[in-house]
Amino acid sequence: MAQEDVFKKIVAHCKEYGFVFPSSDIYDGLAAVYDYGQNGVELKNNIKQYWWQSMVLLHDNIVGIDSAIFMHPTIWKASGHVDAFNDPLIDNRDSKKRYRADVLIEDEIAKYDDKIEKEVAKAAKRFKENFDEAKYRATSPKVLELQEKRDALHTRYSAAMNAMDLNELRQIILDEEIVCPISGTRNWTEVRQFNLMFSTEMGSTADGAMKVYLRPETAQGIFVNYLNVQKTGRMKVPFGIAQIGKAFRNEIVARQFIFRMREFEQMEMQFFVRPGTEMEWFSKWKETRMKWHQALGFGADHYRFHDHEKLAHYANAATDVEFLMPFGFKEVEGIHSRTNFDLSQHEKYSGKSIKYFDPETNESYTPYVIETSIGVDRMFLSVMSAAYTEEQLENGETRVVLKLPAALAPVKLAVLPLVKKDGLPEKAREIVNDLKFHFNTIYDEKDSIGKRYRRQDAVGTPYCVTVDHDTLNDNCVTLRNRDTMQQERVAISDLNGIIADRVSITSLLKKLQ
Ligand code: GAP
Repeated sequence: MAQEDVFKKIVAHCKEYGFVFPSSDIYDGLAAVYDYGQNGVELKNNIKQYWWQSMVLLHDNIVGIDSAIFMHPTIWKASGHVDAFNDPLIDNRDSKKRYRADVLIEDEIAKYDDKIEKEVAKAAKRFKENFDEAKYRATSPKVLELQEKRDALHTRYSAAMNAMDLNELRQIILDEEIVCPISGTRNWTEVRQFNLMFSTEMGSTADGAMKVYLRPETAQGIFVNYLNVQKTGRMKVPFGIAQIGKAFRNEIVARQFIFRMREFEQMEMQFFVRPGTEMEWFSKWKETRMKWHQALGFGADHYRFHDHEKLAHYANAATDVEFLMPFGFKEVEGIHSRTNFDLSQHEKYSGKSIKYFDPETNESYTPYVIETSIGVDRMFLSVMSAAYTEEQLENGETRVVLKLPAALAPVKLAVLPLVKKDGLPEKAREIVNDLKFHFNTIYDEKDSIGKRYRRQDAVGTPYCVTVDHDTLNDNCVTLRNRDTMQQERVAISDLNGIIADRVSITSLLKKLQ
C-alpha cells in the first residue's frame, strides 16, 4: 500500500475510534486545530506520564513546574520572538492563497528526490537480482543530472535561508518556475516576514489594555522561573526544570494532520549546566532521549538524528530526533545547546541578576542550557503511525490492530461476558470492579465475541478476558493477547499479577535504567 494511503487510513482510524477529531467538527472544523477523543486523551496522557516520570522521577536533579500561558510581553522581546520568530511568506495574486516561500522550495527539492527514487525503482525492476543500486546511482546519466540540479537548488536555498534573503527566495521560486497549486500561475508577490505569535489584549481598553501573546513555546516559562526554582528548591547546577503545556503558533502551512498544528502541546526540559561543560551534557541528553524513544520497541530503524547545519545565533549545537512517519523521516524532538542566551537576555531586560554562585568553583556565572523539546502531538502521531497494522488472518479476513506499547494503550483490559445472561454479566462486572483500581479496565457485552475482539484490537487494548459458563464454577477466564491472539485459561485471582506489571509505565521506565 502506498505510504500516502497508509497515512490517510491512520487519520480516518483516529477519527473513527475516538482518538482525534477535527476541532469544531460540526461547524466543519478549524484549520490545524484538533481535539482528542475518549481514547486519544488516554494515549496522550500516557505519553505525557512516560515523559514526566522519566524526567522528574528518574532524575533527582530535575523538578517540574507549570507556568501560565500568558506572560509579561517583554519576555517575548527578550527571547527574540517579537523580532525574529518569523516565516517568509509569499502570496499568489490569482488564487489569493498564501504560502511559506521556504516550503514551496523545499517541496521542489523533494520533487527532485522523488524523481531520483522513481528512476532507481524503475531500474531495480528492470535489472532484478543483478541490480547494483550504488553503482546505478553513481553512473546513471539521468540520476546524475537530477542529483546535480537538486544539489544546486539545495545549496542556493540554504544560502538564502541563512542570510534570510527574501529577494533571493522569491527569485528561486521564479527561476524554478514554481506554480501555485490552486491557480497554476506564477503570479507571485514579494516575499514578506510573518510573525507566528498569536496576540490578544489583557485588561479593558478603558484601563489601557496590554498586548499579550499566547506563548509559542513553553521554554520561556522555565527560564523566567529559573531563579524561583533554584532558590526555593536549593538546586545545585547541574539541574533541570521540566514542563508540559500548550503552545500556540500561527502556522501558515498547516498540514499533515496533527504534525503541524496551531495549538499544540510541548514537553520541554531545560538543563542548567556550568559553562564549558555544555557539549558533554548535550551528548548525554542525546543518548538519554534516544533511549527513551527506543524503549517503546518500534525498532531502532525508525529513528535517526538530524544535526542542524544552520544554528540559531544563540545555539552552539542542535539536533533533531527524527521518526519514520508514513511521509518520511520527520522531526519529533529537538535537542539544543542554547548557551546562556535566554538567561542573559532576561537578566538584561528584567534588570535582575540571574547569576549562580557555584560553591564548587567559587565562581558566579550565568548557567548554560541544554534543552530537550518534544511535541506531544507529534509523539502521538509517531506512536499511532508505528502501531497501526493491517493483518491478514488465516481465515482470509483482515484485522486492523493498533500494536501500541501496552503501557501507552488507552485501555489495558476489556472484560467480555460470552453472553448477556446466566449471571455472566454480573461476574464480568465483578472483575471490572476489582481491577479498575489497578489499571484502565472496561466492560463490553455488545455484539459477538469476535466483533468485540476486533473493536479492542482497533483501539490497541493489549488484553481481553472472556467470562463463560465455566467461569461460574472454576473462577477462571480466557485471557487473550492482542498481538499473538493466543488464549490461555487463567484464574481470576491471578489477573492483576499477570497484567498490572506489563501495562504499567514503570515497565517502560525500567528499560531506561
Ligand atoms: N523551545 C524550543 C522549541 O520550541 P521547536 O523545534 O520550535 O523548539 C519543539 O519545537 C518541538 O515542538 C518540535 O520538535 C515539535 O515536536 C513540536 N512542534 C513545534 N511546532 C509544532 C506545531 N506547529 N505543531 C505540532 N508540534 C509542533
